Amino acid sequence: MTPPNNLPTRKLGRDGPAVPSIGLGLMSLSAAYGAVGSDEERFKLLDRAWEIGCTNWDTSDQYGDSEDLLGKWFKLHPERRADIFLASKFGLKVRRKPNDSGYDIGVDNSPEYARVAIERSLKRLGVDYLDLYYVHRLDSSVPVEKTIEVLAEFKRDGRIKAIGLSGCTSRSLRRAYKVTPIDAVQMEYSPWVLDIENDVGTNMLSACQELGVTVFAYSPLGRGFLTGKYRTTSDFGPGDSRNLLPRFQEENMAHNLPLVDRFHAIAGRKGCTPGQVALAWLLAQSENIIPIPGTKKISNLEENVAALNIDLSTAEVRELRDAINACNIVGERGLPGPLLEQKALLKSITYVLLSETWLIGSLVDEGAAEQQGTGWPQQCYVGMAPTTGAPVSGGLSQETEVFSGVLCRSWSVLKAQRPNANAWVESEATSGRYGDKPCQSMRGGVKHVVSCIEGHDNGSQDGRD
Ligand SMILES: NC(=O)c1ccc[n+]([C@@H]2O[C@H](COP(=O)([O-])OP(=O)(O)OC[C@H]3O[C@@H](n4cnc5c(N)ncnc54)[C@H](OP(=O)(O)O)[C@@H]3O)[C@@H](O)[C@H]2O)c1
Repeated sequence: MTPPNNLPTRKLGRDGPAVPSIGLGLMSLSAAYGAVGSDEERFKLLDRAWEIGCTNWDTSDQYGDSEDLLGKWFKLHPERRADIFLASKFGLKVRRKPNDSGYDIGVDNSPEYARVAIERSLKRLGVDYLDLYYVHRLDSSVPVEKTIEVLAEFKRDGRIKAIGLSGCTSRSLRRAYKVTPIDAVQMEYSPWVLDIENDVGTNMLSACQELGVTVFAYSPLGRGFLTGKYRTTSDFGPGDSRNLLPRFQEENMAHNLPLVDRFHAIAGRKGCTPGQVALAWLLAQSENIIPIPGTKKISNLEENVAALNIDLSTAEVRELRDAINACNIVGERGLPGPLLEQKALLKSITYVLLSETWLIGSLVDEGAAEQQGTGWPQQCYVGMAPTTGAPVSGGLSQETEVFSGVLCRSWSVLKAQRPNANAWVESEATSGRYGDKPCQSMRGGVKHVVSCIEGHDNGSQDGRD
């Protein structure tokens, strides 16, 4: 059996092992972007990744059958376990709704759940340890210190080698770091999502540089958009979660395409592909960045790894930055990211994806359901339908996440597009309902959500770090 080639590496954290500078994201091999292949087809991709030395693998307990698939692959090749830098995550609870209508997304980073989750992941993967274990998302109700204490325990007993946080703020990272050094964060970072570079993403990149934390850049190809492969919504099949993301709605895609065209032009000059330019550009931003592109195709895997051979000059890096800045990307990037656990003005805000609803935020009306004794939903939401721009509202009863940044920005959009938005909120506030049923716990809720957002929009920095 051919041993893996060696790829260029970057160091994990301050004192960690050398890790291949481009990894392999395993989400889409098992979930998220439409139909998945048979085990045999997927083993071929894993075999090829191993062969070419792309042995830095990223999975999660929420990526469909990913951990089970890897477990079967390790069973076929037990000797290869030591070659793989294996990262997994816990803390998200994603449930797909029927009829391709979105997801219910919950967060649980409690120590109790961490103990259940690590055992389940090790068992599914059929391994004794993980090289890196992330908290996938943080919920404000569980202090990050509590979660990290339990991960430090896993590290001491050898079940994990390194600790990471995903989709968090730099404030939580610093708090966590005081408990024990954090080796990595995983954040969305690509030429069209630059949040971690600035205050939208709580200046996460500079915090990581200061602390010596590696940044695993997730969705580094802009969920495929930056490869030029997807130019219209009809390029996505059924069951593809990008159908639900604001940035992948038709108008937003059309607006954002000139950026891809610029990448094409530069790639043409360099004799490579736009996706390779995107990956090379990310690698050039800082020594502590490791992109983890995902693919189901061996040819794309090979192409992505070959991006390590693309040298961008300082002038080219700057030219791309100028092109990105000029493009003024539109559309929320969608699924939870750096803004997820911002300290909110609201007690808690739910962010949910529904096919017909562009933005949803909700207020948790604690205790309301108990007071009523009805069991009606404790939360209400406001949003906007992407196709008609019509306001929508309703009740939710699922777990919550704090996701204030998206809510605030989207409310601004709604207000700009609907001059009567405030009047609509007034009427919703008095006619609260859940579906066709009256719902006391919603009364006033929508109005309160909006007034909190308005306060946030008016320059308050609360919730921004
Ligand atoms: N921590 C988190 O919350 C979080 C969230 C999202 C993702 N992630 C991690 O990040 C990884 C990557 O993110 P992602 O899959 O969302 O986005 P991505 O890597 O930016 O893009 C993946 C998409 O690009 C396409 N693609 C990949 N290489 C290509 C190439 N060379 N040419 C043309 N198309 C190409 C893929 O299609 P094909 O399959 O056809 O190649 C797929 O549709 C995930 O697998 C996961 O491990 C983490």
